[in-house]
Amino acid sequence: MKKIGWIFLVSLALQLLSSSSRGPDTSRWQSIDCGSERSWEDRLLTWRSDYDYSQTGWNKLVGTNTTRDEFNTLRAFPNGSKDDCYNVPIDADMVRYIIRVGFYYGNYDGLSKPPTFDLFINNKKWTTINTSLNEGEPFYEEIIYPNKGSEFFKICLVQIQDGGIPFINSIETVGIFHTLYYEMDTNATYNLVTRINFGGPEVRYHPLTDERFNRIWSKGYTTYANVSGLPTIYAATSSNYPPESVMADAIESNASDPITLTIDLPQFTPQSAFIVLYIPQLVYTNKPNQTRSLKIEIDGKDQGTADTIGYNENTVVTKYPVTVSGPTINITLSRVNESSLPPMIAAMEVFTKLDMNVSAAAPEYFSFACSLILLFMLLSVA
Ligand SMILES: *[C@@H]1O[C@H](CO)[C@@H](O)[C@H](O)[C@H]1NC(C)=O
Ligand SMILES: *[C@@H]1O[C@H](CO)[C@@H](O)[C@H](O)[C@H]1NC(C)=O
Ligand SMILES: *[C@@H]1O[C@H](CO)[C@@H](O)[C@H](O)[C@H]1NC(C)=O
Ligand SMILES: *[C@@H]1O[C@H](CO)[C@@H](O)[C@H](O)[C@H]1NC(C)=O
Ligand SMILES: *[C@@H]1O[C@H](CO)[C@@H](O)[C@H](O)[C@H]1NC(C)=O
Repeated sequence: MKKIGWIFLVSLALQLLSSSSRGPDTSRWQSIDCGSERSWEDRLLTWRSDYDYSQTGWNKLVGTNTTRDEFNTLRAFPNGSKDDCYNVPIDADMVRYIIRVGFYYGNYDGLSKPPTFDLFINNKKWTTINTSLNEGEPFYEEIIYPNKGSEFFKICLVQIQDGGIPFINSIETVGIFHTLYYEMDTNATYNLVTRINFGGPEVRYHPLTDERFNRIWSKGYTTYANVSGLPTIYAATSSNYPPESVMADAIESNASDPITLTIDLPQFTPQSAFIVLYIPQLVYTNKPNQTRSLKIEIDGKDQGTADTIGYNENTVVTKYPVTVSGPTINITLSRVNESSLPPMIAAMEVFTKLDMNVSAAAPEYFSFACSLILLFMLLSVA
């Protein structure tokens, strides 16, 4: 009895330890491998088959495999039905969700004709997917979506004229609480334009990294000098919890040169951007009184300065709302005269606020309904 009590206590303590120092509770993450006949684990995540989430469509295997297994199957929707949808359950206690969908054509139909189609969420248009972009490589669309109290996210694939047959390879959702991106408007949807790890490789969720929201920090390609081995601190002390491995490397400019970052923005209309800059803490050296202070300009407009606060604290700067329009956003970080160190940046995220009030109905059904009404009117006139 006593022994069992001890074992219980020890295992409880171990569990508590591991849950605080290790990764997040992934049991509530949804990772759906569309088109897969079975559920499977990749040591990190459980990928579920999509049988429980969608009632229409065909399961297909891609022609050319990729290294990520979830991209090697897809579900295609040849019927163009209004039920070409996935219903993904939502936890009521989450404030927002990260929703990421993956596409990889891989010539699954042998036609070498990657389709273009519309993606809808909860009956509102999310975006148009052109699967011939990204040089035929797998790609994602990701949004931060508010939890409006419905039980499901309804994600639908809608054919467009001459666009071909819609398909999808993966759906991932992660519930997030209000401290993450807390400057975002409560009821708004944000489209991820880019999330970059400067000076290092792509970082994803892994038990050995502390990425706790299943975000993907893609590798940044710049001409600036990479700095690695920066001292790391527990991510929870920085806004938005950037993983340690993301903050451990950065890019730095030469002497008084500015850092200029150019982000492609596919939509040309003016929109509201949410930009987060992650600047690492100062490095201990024998030089006392180091300072890093940089001036931020976005598309030529002054956005104030950022100071590296000191040791053991990253500087996370959020600029929102910033009005931007395509084809690019240009961010310049220049050295303030008094700064003893040149500009440095470890990571960046850029979102744009989506206008979800347009086109409440899918075009086809809408035009079908319209023609019925027209026909009815014509009949009434006659
Ligand atoms: C297409 O629609 C027909 C008739 O409703 C149905 O039997 C079939 O399963 C559908 N095919 C797919 C791939 O959804
Ligand atoms: C998709 O992108 C390709 C490559 O940029 C382009 O040629 C094609 O017209 C696009 N398709 C549609 C339907 O917009
Ligand atoms: C968000 O939407 C809910 C329900 O539609 C509404 O009650 C609430 O006032 C909205 N909040 C904000 C900040 O707009
Ligand atoms: C930065 O300075 C180093 C040494 O002074 C030089 O070799 C290098 O070309 C410079 N890099 C850039 C991007 O100007
Ligand atoms: C560092 O800063 C302190 C306080 O501002 C100053 O008194 C000291 O002279 C500075 N040391 C150096 C080496 O600049």
